[in-house]
Amino acid sequence: MSEMVKITINDKEMEAKSGSLLIDKLLDENIHIPHFCYHRALGVDGNCRMCMVEIVGQKRPQISCDTHIKEGMIVSTVSENIMKVRKEILELQLINHPIDCPTCDQAGECKLQDFYMESGFYESRINLADKNHARKKEDLGANVMLDQERCVLCTRCVRFCAEVTGTHELGVVSRADHSVIATFPGMKLHNPYAMNVVDLCPVGALTSKDFRFQQRVWFLESFHAICNGCSRGCNINVDHRKEKYKDDIVYRFRPRHNDAVNGYFMCDIGRLSYKSNQNNRITSAIINKKEDTSFRALALLYKELAANEKSLILVGPNLSLEELINLKSFASSIGANISGYAPTYVDETFGDDYLKTNDRSSNRAAFKEIGISEEKADFDKYLNEAALVVIFENNFFDDNLKLLDRKKLISCFSNACTTTEHSAVVIPLASFYEKSGTYINKDGIKQKVISGMNKDIPELNASDLIQTIQSMLEKGNI
Ligand code: SF4
Ligand code: SF4
Ligand code: FES
Repeated sequence: MSEMVKITINDKEMEAKSGSLLIDKLLDENIHIPHFCYHRALGVDGNCRMCMVEIVGQKRPQISCDTHIKEGMIVSTVSENIMKVRKEILELQLINHPIDCPTCDQAGECKLQDFYMESGFYESRINLADKNHARKKEDLGANVMLDQERCVLCTRCVRFCAEVTGTHELGVVSRADHSVIATFPGMKLHNPYAMNVVDLCPVGALTSKDFRFQQRVWFLESFHAICNGCSRGCNINVDHRKEKYKDDIVYRFRPRHNDAVNGYFMCDIGRLSYKSNQNNRITSAIINKKEDTSFRALALLYKELAANEKSLILVGPNLSLEELINLKSFASSIGANISGYAPTYVDETFGDDYLKTNDRSSNRAAFKEIGISEEKADFDKYLNEAALVVIFENNFFDDNLKLLDRKKLISCFSNACTTTEHSAVVIPLASFYEKSGTYINKDGIKQKVISGMNKDIPELNASDLIQTIQSMLEKGNI
């Protein structure tokens, strides 16, 4: 372990790890330090010069991203000289920068815009007509657009493709103030993690084709969720907005930093999965092909379960731990068998040696934790014995409907699918990001999330559903 030493930052004495990077200490202490090129996942490049600090005993200001902490170091991030230096570097960055803020998707979360606003440096000395121009609309690949004029050449995107994905699609081409980011000849930015460069880009040079021009970021609210695209369980932010008279709309998923799970990144498939989760939602209960109330559907569900011994309750591997615990105890209280058989969630072509795993579900490990069998033999036996099958978020029968011949089918899903189309009763469920719960990833890491979605979502999660049945029973409504 590194030795702890005493240093002083902005007149405040504190302890820090000897030899660690000064910029990390500043960031850990929430001391404002403008920077473009440094990123904890990509390390030091030292090209933007924005992170200058003054260090007693050093003749000139130093970049904090390439300064290692030493005993007794006295640092200032706010001295008059540092403010002046920072302003001059910013002016250099702005020489050829376009006046795009009103139409730029990054506005509101742009580092250049923030630093410009705090610099008080509003009078430009650059004649608009003298600015260099570059390409405004470069299609880099499937999901990313580049505006070369907005780029501050921090090279985060280049280093991500070199150091994280190892795919090397991007580089800096041309010289001096004509330098721009581009893909190498014959290449496109097509790696499965490409959209992370949009988050890494500190300005609006790289934008997501999916999100651009869709929504101003200051209208969005954000809450935490766990991606359900595979058993990695990447931590995500769900950015959403409830528009007047409209439902709450999710505009994007973004990775949320967690070193134990996904670091700073996520895959593009997981990122874009908000669409399939948002589209095709089941918004009301259906009984015999007609819309009905959830209460009548729940009463029917209970009556059918009570009338049919040894029914099969098939649960899916994306339900939360709490939902699974409640469903297991509900099944046992009503004499039904419960199975977590879910082979259709395994895709041998999906995984890689980075984040993606072949198991396309987020909570299969919970089955083991609470003792729900996912064995085929148990499933076959329970199915054989059952006249009624109740399915909670499990797509197994989508491709195996024949197995349900002569069985009654009730399904509880968030999104319509082949199984719901063939069910006598359909009960809508909340989507994974609309509910709070715990998920256990492939490495056994338990992660709890509290949903921040607007509370007026009509759909219930599986636990609410059981509670509602119990309260209907207590009130004599069933
Ligand atoms: S495109 Fe963005 S991330 Fe890439 S070098 Fe330019 S500013 Fe940096
Ligand atoms: S790696 Fe898996 S959990 Fe992570 S974003 Fe992709 S699909 Fe989601
Ligand atoms: S962040 Fe230190 S030089 Fe760019």
